[in-house]
This record gives sequence, structure tokens and C-alpha cells, in this order.
Amino acid sequence: MKILITGTRSGIGKATEQYLAKQGHDIRGITGHKALDVSDRQAVGTYCRNLRATNWLPDAVILNAGIFPDDVGSGFSRANFDKTFAINVGGAINFIEELLPDMLTRGSGHFIGIASTAAFRPNALAISYPASKAALGLAMRGFDLHYRDRGVAFSTVYLGPIATEMYEGKKSTFVPNPEGVAIMLCKLLASKKTVVYYPFFPTMLSRVLTHFSDNTYLAIRKYLLK
Ligand SMILES: NC(=O)c1ccc[n+]([C@@H]2O[C@H](COP(=O)([O-])OP(=O)(O)OC[C@H]3O[C@@H](n4cnc5c(N)ncnc54)[C@H](OP(=O)(O)O)[C@@H]3O)[C@@H](O)[C@H]2O)c1
Repeated sequence: MKILITGTRSGIGKATEQYLAKQGHDIRGITGHKALDVSDRQAVGTYCRNLRATNWLPDAVILNAGIFPDDVGSGFSRANFDKTFAINVGGAINFIEELLPDMLTRGSGHFIGIASTAAFRPNALAISYPASKAALGLAMRGFDLHYRDRGVAFSTVYLGPIATEMYEGKKSTFVPNPEGVAIMLCKLLASKKTVVYYPFFPTMLSRVLTHFSDNTYLAIRKYLLK
């Protein structure tokens, strides 16, 4: 299968690129913002036109590139808020805009968006990240409702904590390595499920805790992390 992956310089993208290549897939990885800034609509357009010109159109696209900046720690930063949305949401939409028409013509294709359980509730220390992941998830699920019948599937992966550069919390058995995500994504390429939660226990807990108010959740979290 021809698979395009964004954000392969590190973490989940890098592990996924390596794992899927070992399984025999034909991978094109966009290493990071220095190789191609996914938030730059024109640059993404040029990149995709080059793919088309070389007759390399992906069967699946893993929209993994993302950032989690501090946007409120030293006062609200509108610039960081906008940048988060431009990369985490706009970066995915730029590829969908470019590659969806080809997939619809062909009658097959698969976009996978990497969202987060952070999407389920606000975070007092980071305003834009959870909001961007909520937006990404809802956009992907909307696309799926609209296009799946025409052969193009959209999957949303709600990840819990994964041990990468981005994760700053405590390491434990409940925080898998990015290789675990790569294996899950490989299965998802076959199943094309609309929504996936990974890893099981932390994401199940996050879903159950959505029934509590934000303040009660914070108190439970503080107690669990003591
Ligand atoms: N780790 C977790 O706990 C966790 C949990 C839930 C969801 N996620 C999501 O999983 C995805 C991968 O994150 P990760 O944990 O593997 O973190 P990571 O190691 O920081 O990887 C993020 C990747 O995105 C790339 N990137 C960032 N901005 C970009 C831009 N403008 N254009 C192109 N590439 C860009 C980065 O490369 P450069 O730095 O070189 O630009 C890097 O390769 C993200 O979408 C993240 O939100 C992670």
C-alpha cells in the first residue's frame, strides 16, 4: 500500500514510518516543518502536485504532524493559539483538500487523523491544543459521514498519553511507546474503523470521566497523580 505520513521526524510518525516500511508498504514521510510546513496551504499543494506528476498517489494518508505549545503560561498568546490550529487542524485539511479529489475519482482512499483524548475536556494550562484536537476529530468524523459511501474513509484516532518528545507526564505501564501506536495504525489501515481509542485503559478512563464536571475531574486527577 502507498502511505503518506506527516510528522515522521520523531515520535509516533517516525515509529509508524519504520514499522509500516518493515511490513512492506511504500512510505513517503514528511519529516517535519523544515521539510514541509503542513500549515502552508500552497506548499502542500505543490507537494501533492509533485506526487501526482510522478504517479505516486497514496492509498492512505496518516495526518500525524502536530504541536502542543504553551499558549497561556505567560499570558495568552494569540500567535501560539493560531499556530496550533493552523498545524493541528489546517495541516490535516490542507492534505485532504489536495488529495480527496484524486481518491474520489479512484473510488478509494483512507485518511487517518491523529487526535487526542485531550479533545474531551479543557486544560487550564493549554487552551488551543484540546480545542484543536476536538475540531480535528469532529471534522474527520464529518468527512467520514459524507464520503465513506463513495469509497473514501476517514478515521479518527483518540490517543491517550504516549511516551514521545511531546509527552511531559510520568512514564508508567499505562504510557506505551510509539511502536504500540504504529502496530495499532497498521491494523487500522485494514479495518478502516471510523473511531479508535488507544491505549485501552487510559482512553476508557478519559471517556468515563467526561461525565464529571471539569473541576471534579481536576480533583480526581490531582488525587490519582499524588
Ligand atoms: N505523545 C502523546 O502523548 C500524544 C497524545 C495524543 C495525541 N498525540 C498526537 O500524536 C501526533 C504525533 O505526536 P508525537 O507525540 O509523536 O510528538 P512529536 O515527537 O513532537 O512529533 C510531532 C511531529 O510533527 C512534526 N511537525 C510539527 N509541526 C509541523 C509542521 N508545521 N509541519 C510539518 N511537520 C510538523 C514534528 O516535526 P518538527 O518538530 O521537525 O516540525 C514531529 O515530527 C501529534 O498530532 C500529537 O498531537 C500525541
